[in-house]
Amino acid sequence: MAEHILAPMAELSHRALRELIESFFDRPDTPRPEYYSEMISAAGLLSGGPFEKWYLDGGPRQERLVYQLLGSDPEKLAAAAGVLDTLPCLGIDINMGCAAPAITRTGAGVRLMEDIDKAGRIAAALRKATKKRLSVKMRLGSRPPPGSDDLPGFERLLTFCRRLENEGVEFIALHPRLAGEKFKRRARWDYVEALRKELSIPVAGNGDIGSAAGLADRAKAGPAMIGRLAVKEPWVFAAAPRQSTARLEETAFRFLDLLSLHQPPEFHLSRARRFFRYYCDNFTWAEYLRNKINREESLGGIGRVIHEYCRENPR
Ligand SMILES: Cc1cc2nc3c(=O)[nH]c(=O)nc-3n(C[C@H](O)[C@H](O)[C@H](O)COP(=O)(O)O)c2cc1C
Repeated sequence: MAEHILAPMAELSHRALRELIESFFDRPDTPRPEYYSEMISAAGLLSGGPFEKWYLDGGPRQERLVYQLLGSDPEKLAAAAGVLDTLPCLGIDINMGCAAPAITRTGAGVRLMEDIDKAGRIAAALRKATKKRLSVKMRLGSRPPPGSDDLPGFERLLTFCRRLENEGVEFIALHPRLAGEKFKRRARWDYVEALRKELSIPVAGNGDIGSAAGLADRAKAGPAMIGRLAVKEPWVFAAAPRQSTARLEETAFRFLDLLSLHQPPEFHLSRARRFFRYYCDNFTWAEYLRNKINREESLGGIGRVIHEYCRENPR
């Protein structure tokens, strides 16, 4: 079986979620997923903001943790990688896939895919700064090549990846959508397969895996990364069975406890809302429950809403 990987997700891929995922494994020797962290700003890390220690908390399985760095300046990214290199972890990843306007405006994320030379210089600078496994998470590209229909050019993607490979990148995670493409458009897994055939480094595929069976199926062909499914079904990596309402409630409460243990109070509400945005899909009246949760102003209030919902809808 190939690797299962938790995707980097801002405000979601933090220690509390990893602890929750780990709580479903009942044996210490069952293979664990790789855990990508949420994106960490290189500039923020270097200037030592008040919340950095929370972003850097790599527990509970530091040996399986991959820190993802965000930035556009090769020197800052390399200096930040030097800091991460001193921490126990499996690897360091460069975010070349984020398409949020607030990020692309700064030249970071998927914007790095527009300039092969710059992306190559960043990879080379990080290669010098760390001996950890160096990886890049990317999309198909920023936009379709000029004059083409809306399909991204595979040749350009391949040239981009080969350059990274030559600069010492050891692993690629491909979310096969273009920058502007929302989740409504299906991820193009044929690009993952094509890239795997051409590169000598491993390529993880990511996007739209929606069930445990889908994960098992994708993982037959190579490393498979999941984001939203791991939040909706944090038991999926442990291949635990579908949860009853009572177990769903228990899991929700466990997450709230883990959040207050492993995240600062300033993050509690935003992280809880993010989590329940996906977790509520396990319940019949998902939208109703989500709206009620979003109106609450404390973790205690969120717990009460979930408890009431499960009491009123035991099935
Ligand atoms: C809430 C949220 C936050 C995300 N934050 C990041 C991020 O910090 N870095 C990154 O490379 N991708 C980020 N992504 C993209 C995911 O890693 C992943 O590529 C995407 O969700 C598709 O995978 P999925 O269909 O399994 O969810 C984020 C996605 C979501 C939904």
